[in-house]
Amino acid sequence: MNDVPNPFRDGLTRSDAPAPCVFVLFGATGDLTARKLVPALWQLVRGGLAPKQFFVLGVARRAKSDDEFRAEMRAAVDKFGRDRPADEAEWEAFAQRLGYCVCEFTQPAAYQALAQRLRGIDASHGTAGNRLYYLAVAPEFFEGITSSLHEAELIGPDQAGGWRRVVIEKPFGTDLASAARLSGHLHGLLTEDQIYRIDHYLGKETVQNLLTLRFGNAIFEPLWNRNHIEHVQITVAETEGIGRRGEFYDQTGALRDMVQNHMMQLLALVAMEPPVTWEAGAIRDEKAKVLRALPAWTPAQVASRVVRAQYTRGTLAGVEMPGFTEEAGIAPDSLTESYVAMRLTLDTWRWSGVPFYLRHGKRLPKRTTEIAIAFHQPPLSLFPPTVGRSGNTLVMRIQPDEGISLNFVAKVPGTRLTLQAVKMDFGYGSSFAQTSPEAYERLLLDAMLGDNTLFTREDEVASAWRFVDSVRAGLAEQPRDTMAGYAVGSWGPAAADALLDGDATWRRL
Ligand code: BG6
Repeated sequence: MNDVPNPFRDGLTRSDAPAPCVFVLFGATGDLTARKLVPALWQLVRGGLAPKQFFVLGVARRAKSDDEFRAEMRAAVDKFGRDRPADEAEWEAFAQRLGYCVCEFTQPAAYQALAQRLRGIDASHGTAGNRLYYLAVAPEFFEGITSSLHEAELIGPDQAGGWRRVVIEKPFGTDLASAARLSGHLHGLLTEDQIYRIDHYLGKETVQNLLTLRFGNAIFEPLWNRNHIEHVQITVAETEGIGRRGEFYDQTGALRDMVQNHMMQLLALVAMEPPVTWEAGAIRDEKAKVLRALPAWTPAQVASRVVRAQYTRGTLAGVEMPGFTEEAGIAPDSLTESYVAMRLTLDTWRWSGVPFYLRHGKRLPKRTTEIAIAFHQPPLSLFPPTVGRSGNTLVMRIQPDEGISLNFVAKVPGTRLTLQAVKMDFGYGSSFAQTSPEAYERLLLDAMLGDNTLFTREDEVASAWRFVDSVRAGLAEQPRDTMAGYAVGSWGPAAADALLDGDATWRRL
């Protein structure tokens, strides 16, 4: 049995703090550090969840003093943090545990200076040689940084001198071959248990609640299979475009940016079998089985099951916006998708024949992530068809407006027999007084605790890539005119409607 605290059992209020450690943050001048990582670390310290002996060492290539870094992080916390510092004294207590170390990632000598700095921090802050390295850098640096850390004896198997863990930001590879190469490289330096592949969707409160809903209640599980479920829809809709990430996005596209990781994880959580224990390995085993049940597709299967598209000039929230190929960093003749929809099935006993419809796009009318479980229609229609389908749907709203609702039909009061769709609704906001922690808070804390339940394992990542690679290969064979268009602010291309079987339709959100 794993004796580390379990996030599902203990919640974020657990009192056992992680062991002393240094959080070594590569990519300290980047966007993720300012927007997510340091605000999350600040929140953990503020809430008393970080270890008492703790230090955050920012590492990047640009020269900067500790004080300059602290001032920048203060601005970041003010702008992006959940809670601002109550006063200067509170911030100062945190700032004293923040430092900066310049490091030219590609030069092994720089790592000697880093080693020396870390020894100094252990002496001054009692961090006991425990290190959590977080690689918030471009993927091309993953291998070089970990090799240099290894040569400087800063990582390796855990020893009496402290534990060593490495968190790898996405993307973990760009296809199956590169992900396998990266895993192979890391396994030469670390055990799988020391590798934390982060997928921030797994840190979202509502994503974790999916497991609670399924396995903490007896009413849903008997229905959770092909006998009762007609289809499942997973939607990740964003209003955002590609921002300043044009070049990156043009190389990546919606399939690799969102489907291979976040959406495959949502799929795995919805479809997995009950784990035999609530332990990390058992939960990951079940998720891995789902992803293994996703066969690679032939180009002909891709052609009939996938629709990809790019947004075209249009209006969102009253603002006229450029089309995808007009964005900075995107090639005018780009064949990268900003929208993808697909129909997939899982070759398992539980799900055989049940379509899972996935859709994700940028510049859609509304930011919404949800999973909708559509149950079968009644076997016989006794009532006038005033509402069309029965609408028995269980909807898990991941974000925003987090909650769960069960939709069904009810009789409209009156002397006539008229049916109307109604819903029973649970909302996080109205049921709980406390606000949810940010995904990164949970995940960074878990990594410090040595709990990798909410991180992805090598085999999960590999299966997701095998599937996505086959989709990309199929799309690459298709003629240019199969790239559909959808106006900014619309719900995607009309072609996506044809993916749904029978009289099912995409949910209107
Ligand atoms: C990131 C993607 O992983 O997730 C972005 O690279 C996307 O393109 C983001 O916008 C969505 O995250 P969230 O938490 O805002 O849904």
